[in-house]
Amino acid sequence: MNGKEAAGKKALEEIQEGMTIGLGTGSTVYFFLKALAEKVAAGFKITGVATSQQTIELAKKWNIPMRALNEVTTIDVTIDGADEVDPDLTGIKGGGGALLYEKMVAKVSTRRVWIVDSSKKVEQLGAFPLPVEVIPFGWKHVEAALSEKGYLPKLRRDSEGHPYVTDAHHYILDLHLHSIADPVLLAIELDHLTGVVEHGLFIGITEKVLVGYPDGHVETMV
Ligand code: A5P
Repeated sequence: MNGKEAAGKKALEEIQEGMTIGLGTGSTVYFFLKALAEKVAAGFKITGVATSQQTIELAKKWNIPMRALNEVTTIDVTIDGADEVDPDLTGIKGGGGALLYEKMVAKVSTRRVWIVDSSKKVEQLGAFPLPVEVIPFGWKHVEAALSEKGYLPKLRRDSEGHPYVTDAHHYILDLHLHSIADPVLLAIELDHLTGVVEHGLFIGITEKVLVGYPDGHVETMV
């Protein structure tokens, strides 16, 4: 068992029969989905709402019943991963490119629980590049505006060197900030930059983080 698997399995304790569950994205969520699928196969009834095409495909493969976000009115709890989490439970997300749908699903969820391994715990955010999702039209001008602020943006590319395209058909500029002194101020600034669709700063968006350690124990941050 590694930390991701330990946290993913622990998240099952957040789930009750009949719930509508937001299903996050990534390699930690993978373990949660796998454990959830085992319960579903045994007759446990839930409905999932995915945050990415990657998660839709896993859920289909494992026969987890799914609805689109527009087909549900509320989500009881969303289980999602994160790239960095600080002591205030502010996080960076979007390393896998799913930040926009993840934030949309999180915002309509009653509860939000993150699952991470212990390497994701930081005192200050920013060593992980901050993803900023941008409209492809004129993206170079958004990049220039971010460069001018000293935020060191880099267009994310796929393995063939083409611009990485999100599920919502946008590009991602990763900001190599190294440290973020004031996440709230930065979030406000990015929220107001024309051409930016969303950014990976998740502030006040989770109530609980389950941190898995290599020895299999799980710490709960609230
Ligand atoms: C997806 O875009 C991300 O927000 C993921 O939730 C995050 O990158 C964590 O992924 P891992 O669990 O694979 O580290």
